Amino acid sequence: MDNNIVPVEKAFNLDDMVPSQIVSELNKYVIGQDKAKRTIAVAIRNRTRRKRLPDNIRDEVYPKNIIMIGPTGVGKTEIARRIARLSNAPFIKVEATKFTEVGYVGRDVESMIKDLMGSAVSMVRRELAAKNEEKVKAVVEERLIDLLIPSMNKNGSADAQFDEAGRQARELVREKLRKGEFENTEVEVSMSFRPKSVEIGMVGSMDDFQNAMNNIGNIFQSAQNRGKKHKITIKRAREIFMEEEMDRNIDQDKVVDLAKERTEQMGIVFIDEIDKIAGKNGATSGPDVSREGVQRDILPIVEGTKVSTKWGVIDTAHILFIAAGAFHVSKPSDLIPELQGRFPLRVELDDLSADDFFRILSEPENAITLQYRELLKTEGVDVVFTDPALRRISEIAYEVNSRQENIGARRLYTIMEILLEELSFSADQLSGQTITITPDYVNERLTDVVKNQDLTRYIL
Ligand SMILES: Nc1ncnc2c1ncn2[C@@H]1O[C@H](COP(=O)(O)OP(=O)(O)OP(=O)(O)O)[C@@H](O)[C@H]1O
Ligand SMILES: [Mg+2]
Repeated sequence: MDNNIVPVEKAFNLDDMVPSQIVSELNKYVIGQDKAKRTIAVAIRNRTRRKRLPDNIRDEVYPKNIIMIGPTGVGKTEIARRIARLSNAPFIKVEATKFTEVGYVGRDVESMIKDLMGSAVSMVRRELAAKNEEKVKAVVEERLIDLLIPSMNKNGSADAQFDEAGRQARELVREKLRKGEFENTEVEVSMSFRPKSVEIGMVGSMDDFQNAMNNIGNIFQSAQNRGKKHKITIKRAREIFMEEEMDRNIDQDKVVDLAKERTEQMGIVFIDEIDKIAGKNGATSGPDVSREGVQRDILPIVEGTKVSTKWGVIDTAHILFIAAGAFHVSKPSDLIPELQGRFPLRVELDDLSADDFFRILSEPENAITLQYRELLKTEGVDVVFTDPALRRISEIAYEVNSRQENIGARRLYTIMEILLEELSFSADQLSGQTITITPDYVNERLTDVVKNQDLTRYIL
């Protein structure tokens, strides 16, 4: 009980974030789309609120699932990606279309939940491991020193003088080890470690079966290896010992308990490209699984069902589902009514303006301009983008989008690539120089391409 609830509460930073904080975190990477950000922030916060309710009410409060609707390249997937990074909540992203593909026929949609739980398990394991890190490091260090001075630890000598000499030698070795002087020293290690917790659980799906087979493989492998001496470097020995000691210090049952709690209460499944499974069966041809069939498969999971995983049964009732799609051809109303009902919140994302493009180029912490800058810096070239140049690029992107297909912010990538093609190619010869990208530079390289419709179509 105390195992379960307390650490989970503490471990979540997302739990502590109010909607405005979530939005401002997203603002660092995604420009505009305020409505979508707000809606998602509220949905996430509502789960924290729900957790504070008394048991009897809490179980009645279901998450309000969301559909994000918007043209291509305006930030739907990017928002999901950022949520995943900022939250401690288990998160996975799936493409709805993968369940309709030929290769996946029979692959049950329950794999979403299995994967979600899988990500929670490794998340919790990492967290618990981090807590033990200092302790584990100290143990590993002793083991490495034992390897470096093999005779010493066996010598249970009662001779006080010898002990003192031994202790001094150990400290000397420790000091050198910490300085990294033994990293490439080879030592003999007997491979005694056990296979990682073998879980041949319910063989439910092909994936589970594969896992089970792999585990059996591991058992054989380590049975063969057991007791055998191997020569490895200290560096590698440290890695192996860290794994071993980490595992020894982690209570597997606790990992599973925490992960299950987190998956059920805070898990988020992002279903991308949901528009591609909307629409009637008529549109389906060939051996593809029917779209409506996929919707029907997804439905119980979204409504709340029990899914068996190798870690136990997961209740999906309170998992938050966020779906996204461009809905160019189909409409949300083309989804089967039951599924529509389980996604009560709809948010539309806006088309991006030239001004948005300018901000996308200049504001985000990972802005593409900064990426190019850093890349070229490795060759000793300093590229500086002036604001007017970025304005010009944005205008061009907007213009091409309105004339050709509108691919949103993705257009910026193709344009930047052409703009910097020459520079990227000859960067090695420009080492030590500062290249300033001005509006003239932009015009010179892009105007022809933009003017010539045929060229634009193929190049941009
Ligand atoms: N509003 C935005 N702010 C910052 N970057 C953006 C924005 N919109 C799109 N981008 C960038 O453009 C690229 C494409 O965006 P994203 O993958 O989110 O598109 P999408 O809306 O999911 O489109 P699709 O419907 O085609 O999947 C990403 O690299 C993303 O970083
Ligand atoms: Mg997308």
